[in-house]
Amino acid sequence: MARKYIIAGNWKMNKTPAETKALLSEMVAKNNGKTACEVVLCVPAIDIPAAIEVTAGTTVKVGAQNVHFKDSGAYTGEISAQMLRESGVEYVIIGHSERRQYFGETDETVNLRTAQALANGLKAIVCVGETLAERKDDITFEVIGIQIKRAFKGISAEAMANVVIAYEPVWAIGTGETATNEQAEEVCMFIRGLIAELYGTDVANDITVQYGGSMNAKNAADLLAMDNIDGGLIGGASLKSEDFTVIVDSVK
Ligand code: PGA
Repeated sequence: MARKYIIAGNWKMNKTPAETKALLSEMVAKNNGKTACEVVLCVPAIDIPAAIEVTAGTTVKVGAQNVHFKDSGAYTGEISAQMLRESGVEYVIIGHSERRQYFGETDETVNLRTAQALANGLKAIVCVGETLAERKDDITFEVIGIQIKRAFKGISAEAMANVVIAYEPVWAIGTGETATNEQAEEVCMFIRGLIAELYGTDVANDITVQYGGSMNAKNAADLLAMDNIDGGLIGGASLKSEDFTVIVDSVK
């Protein structure tokens, strides 16, 4: 199987540039040269130069947490794909539930951002996930299905080679309440099946599907052992180099 495991940290709005240098130096010391998975840290935009400096010449990759869908223009506060590329960023998180919840991100803007990221040579980590109310109403698969179909509308099969899908149940993010291995596997398998329907089995077999939501040093090994979970998007535990490294080392 060609599928690549990817452990990505999402620092959210944490760490100044100086703190980034310190924490990433620890991350690099502990994780440079790991071969079982790709190691990515998605840092705040202001921290990108510091992160690129510290990870230069190592196998640790730097990601951003958002990207605008236009090339340039009157979009105060936004950052373009070209700016990220030129800064040395390789990955970008798109459609995180916090952006959907607090910053008006929709399936449509997720689609636009994904297309723009891919067109500019960035790898897109596209987040999907149901809320607790949606899970209780038993519409998880419908919700995820709509998010996936809309996120990748107009995206070619070739471009999907640079897409990672992160399944992050909203109720599990930052709550300490992890999905069970079976709950996570069931949805990740559903996502892969949907990608097979949309793009064929080759694309589906190759695409990395991560789980995210309170993944930590204790539960990572069991989650990552599931057939359809090819990595993790890690929030809280990516702010501690010991915990994050245990997760990286949980990939077999
Ligand atoms: P968490 O965050 O690991 O702190 O739950 C995951 C995420 O939001 O990507």
